Amino acid sequence: MLLAICYRSLACLILLTTLARGYKPVFVMHGIFDSPASMQIIKKTILHHQPDTNVTIIDMFNNFDSTVSMWKQTEAIRKKYGADFKNPSGVHLIGYSQGGILLRGLIQTTNDHNIHTLSCLSSPLMGEFGIPLIAQKYVPGLTLEIATEVFYTPEWQEFSVANYWNDPTQHDKFLKDSRYLALLNYPNSTKDRDNFIKLKHISLVGGPNDDVILPWGSSHFGFYDADLNVHPMEELDVYQEDTFGLKTLNKLGKINKFTYKNIFHTSWPKSVKIIEESIIPYLD
Ligand SMILES: *[C@@H]1O[C@H](CO)[C@@H](O)[C@H](O)[C@H]1NC(C)=O
Ligand SMILES: *[C@@H]1O[C@H](CO)[C@@H](O)[C@H](O)[C@H]1NC(C)=O
Repeated sequence: MLLAICYRSLACLILLTTLARGYKPVFVMHGIFDSPASMQIIKKTILHHQPDTNVTIIDMFNNFDSTVSMWKQTEAIRKKYGADFKNPSGVHLIGYSQGGILLRGLIQTTNDHNIHTLSCLSSPLMGEFGIPLIAQKYVPGLTLEIATEVFYTPEWQEFSVANYWNDPTQHDKFLKDSRYLALLNYPNSTKDRDNFIKLKHISLVGGPNDDVILPWGSSHFGFYDADLNVHPMEELDVYQEDTFGLKTLNKLGKINKFTYKNIFHTSWPKSVKIIEESIIPYLD
C-alpha cells in the first residue's frame, strides 16, 4: 500500500528508506555527582521525535564514582561499549557536563570508531578554571592558587576534576602535570586527530549564566589566555595548530555552537527546547 503511494514520489521513497533503516543508536553520558536519572528527559525527547531509537543512558560512574580518573572511566566505558561504537550503521553520543569531555577523550582515543555525532551540553571541553559557588560551599577557603597546587599532583590526577583543571596562568605546569586534558589538547600521536575528524557533526551547547562551567566559553571549546580574557576556540593555539582536528572539523562546517541565556548548570538536560534545537536535528 505504502509502496503504491510512493510509486511516483522520490521524497516519499527516501522517507520510507529512512524508516526501514531506523535511527542510529544513541549513547548518553551524565555529569559529575550525577546519574542516569537526570538524563531521562533527553531520552524521552529523542523517543518522542524518533520512536524506536535505541537510547542507552550509560549507567556507570554514578554519583561519587564520577570522580574516578577520566582515563579509568574511558577505559571502562570502552570495554563495555567499544564494539557498539564501531557499529557499521553508526552511533551518536551525547554528553552532559563532565560527560561531554569524557566522550571527547573517548572519541580521540578510539581507533576505527563509527561515531557520527557528538553533542555536548555545557561541558568543560577546554577545561575548568574557577571555583563554582557550590564547591566553595563544600570546600570553604579553596582558591584558584591552592587548587592548582593540589590538582596537578600525581595523587590528585587520579580524580576527574583535577584531570581537566586548566590553569592558564601556569600553562607550563598544565602541560607537564595534567595527565588528561593536556594529552587531549596536545596528543602525542596523530591517531587522536584522525579519530576526532571522523566525526560528522559536533553540537556545542552552553551559556553565560551557567554557574559551574568556568569560563562558560569552555563549553564552546574557548578558554582563558594568561591574562584571563576568554577567547573563542578560533583564537586558541590548539585550534590554529589544529593539534587534535578542531580546526579541520570547523572548516568543514561540522561544528555548531548554541548559546542560551538564563540557564543554570543543572537545567541543561531538563530543557526540552534546548534538546530539540541543538541535539535532535543532528540525529538520524
Ligand atoms: C540497545 O543497545 C544496547 C547497547 O548496545 C544493547 O545492549 C541492547 O541490546 C540494544 N537494545 C535493542 C532492543 O536492540
Ligand atoms: C601517549 O599518551 C598516552 C596517554 O594518552 C600514553 O598511554 C602513551 O604511552 C603515550 N605514548 C607515547 C609514545 O608517549
